[in-house]
Amino acid sequence: MKKSILFLGAAVGLFACKTQHSTDVEMDKFVSNLMAQMTLEEKIGQLNLPTVGFDVTGPLLSKDVEQKIKDGKVGGVFNTYTPNAVRKLQELAITQSRLKIPLLFGYDVIHGHRTIFPISLGLSASWDTALIARTAAAAAVEAAADGLNWTFSPMVDIARDPRWGRVSEGAGEDPFLGAAIAKAMVQGYEQGNLSNPNTVLSCIKHFALYGAAEGGRDYNTTDMSRVRMYNEYLPPYKAAVEAGAGSIMTSFNEIDGIPATANKWLFTHLLREQWGFKGLVVTDYTAIAEMISHGVGDKSKTAELALNAGVDMDMVSEFLLDELPALVQAGKVSKAKVDAACRRILEAKYKLGLFADPYRGVSEERAQAELMSADKLALSKEAAIKSMVLLKNERQTLPLKPSQKVAFVGALVKDQRNLIGSWSGAGNWRQAVSLWEALKQQGNSDKLLYAKGCNLLNDGALRNQLNANDGQIELDSRSPQQLIAEAVQAAQRADVVVAVLGEAFGMTGEAASRADIALPNHQQELLRALKKTGKPIVLVLMNGRPLTLTWENDNVDAILETWFAGTQAGAAIADVLYGAANPSGKLTMSFPRSVGQIPIYYNHKQTGRPRNENQKYTSKYLDESNEPLYPFGYGLSYTQFAYSPVQLSATTLAGGSTITASVTLTNKGTRAGEETVQLYIRDKVGSITRPVKELKGFKKVLLQPNASQQVEFTITADLLKFYNSDLQYVAEAGDFQVFIDGSSNTNNSAAFELK
Ligand code: NOJ
Repeated sequence: MKKSILFLGAAVGLFACKTQHSTDVEMDKFVSNLMAQMTLEEKIGQLNLPTVGFDVTGPLLSKDVEQKIKDGKVGGVFNTYTPNAVRKLQELAITQSRLKIPLLFGYDVIHGHRTIFPISLGLSASWDTALIARTAAAAAVEAAADGLNWTFSPMVDIARDPRWGRVSEGAGEDPFLGAAIAKAMVQGYEQGNLSNPNTVLSCIKHFALYGAAEGGRDYNTTDMSRVRMYNEYLPPYKAAVEAGAGSIMTSFNEIDGIPATANKWLFTHLLREQWGFKGLVVTDYTAIAEMISHGVGDKSKTAELALNAGVDMDMVSEFLLDELPALVQAGKVSKAKVDAACRRILEAKYKLGLFADPYRGVSEERAQAELMSADKLALSKEAAIKSMVLLKNERQTLPLKPSQKVAFVGALVKDQRNLIGSWSGAGNWRQAVSLWEALKQQGNSDKLLYAKGCNLLNDGALRNQLNANDGQIELDSRSPQQLIAEAVQAAQRADVVVAVLGEAFGMTGEAASRADIALPNHQQELLRALKKTGKPIVLVLMNGRPLTLTWENDNVDAILETWFAGTQAGAAIADVLYGAANPSGKLTMSFPRSVGQIPIYYNHKQTGRPRNENQKYTSKYLDESNEPLYPFGYGLSYTQFAYSPVQLSATTLAGGSTITASVTLTNKGTRAGEETVQLYIRDKVGSITRPVKELKGFKKVLLQPNASQQVEFTITADLLKFYNSDLQYVAEAGDFQVFIDGSSNTNNSAAFELK
């Protein structure tokens, strides 16, 4: 029945059976035919992207959006999912609007849709691009089964300031790793073929430089040189474009004094002309309207600026819908520009196969089969394990032994709410496995002691703020002193204490910047009291950003960073704590010693006065070292890896030749383990100053005890290229240093010359 209604549609009828193998020419023809039937208002309608909150018990959508869909004034909606909800809205578009053009359905599927994987920063710590691609593919399968065809992901903003709450959503501080992960995610979501109904259109965000907000304060100003932009911040966006991402989102910040959403250089010259991007540009949420606050114009002017800059679709503000008819009339925006924007939106719909099947085969049965299926839960656990970073492990405190009596202490031991992290869209935290639940299932309950020890947050104002957004943070009726006393008692009865502490999920993510990134004071007080018992202490962290852990590093025996590890967090953490799994994650953001060191990142420049303890006039702090507490690339294992010195197949690189750089990696411990071998290069002299080292390769190697493996990297002149002061991408002749090790903090190196 639904199908027959469908095929009556002008748009749909024209399309009929041309989905799968349509060429660009066929798409052009189809879209041109359709556009020939559209009025200017209908074209402008396609540029409109309102949000429609999903509500199972209340009315499906606001009257206005419903009417606008019928009037052909909506190109897509977001925040609605489930087969039924999507079907109802799509039906409106394809049965009641004049041209029956199907809608896009967008959503923030960031680290999983229903099955939640570790937060993106955690996933990046796996350095496992194949795994990350699998999580994106699984998220796409679930999202598509739930009626969605567009995700606002991957977030690929380089971030060097852990105060910024959104560092949790990205892949950290490095452009090379960021680019590799961006590519993997786009491929995972789109599978190179959007007509496959198990895919979703990806959206690179936030273009551009959103991660460089001043002071780490969300939505704040950014400003940087072109050289820094091209070399350090743009590579992940570019890689995602090259991987074929179908859409890109504008960022809230300004670039060169022009809000990104009005930045013609950015969207037209860089993105489309230089990078050849063919997909659609969507604004971030009300970003056009926000340009009034930025102070670049009124409603009409900001709409004009956005469209003329290269924006295609307006998320929520409806400025394009309201203003474009008059702007076209007045000749301030050309019809050709409106046509181009409309065309790109229709092309996205065409590629997704929406003109052939606006529902992309959604059904309750399919959703039932796909959502939170066993394979996806298993993947979530695997990803959680591979994301964890062992930051410290003195005297082999970890793994725990089944014979030990262990006191689990802390507000996060039994917690479920926080495990799925921020931006966990359609995830249901009640389905997340808590650590306590997983521990009990391991079957040695008589060895487990528990004490809450502290509230997650004592700060009432912050707690209220987070609870207003479903934070679910409770305040215990016992006093903080009583909670600590109970924890100390439990510790005294145990062989080892595991303190599970960290942030509430709402302390990270959007609009969640922090000026102080330590553990909350009262959590530290608990740790200090536990320390006095003299028992070995393991600190298990759940958090969404690098924290300042200087006291903790000095005072506890082992630290396991678990991030917000997703639906299977508890099961994964239990496996790692008791040694069923060996941690292998490596940090993708430096952990500072104190906030005053921020921004801090490994690939910094050398100053003219490098730090020298004994000389006054050198680049340093009087009260802090220059070094991070834990550097980029760092992470321990339950086994120990040894690296041989770096070997080079040649010491000169000339005329298209290559050099093989290698090390022998040996597992010196008694357990199998996986190591991420990292290649860094230093360009010693350049026409512009060059970073002290830059990541240029990485390989994951699984080794049995006592086994060795030769790990090789190929160095080409291409790998040595950078943007010079004329923004030409060049490799300059001269001396280079190659480092290979298990962390960025290394001197294991060899030298070569590029002729
Ligand atoms: C605002 C956020 O900045 C962006 O990342 C997100 O995709 C949109 N809201 C839509 O929810």
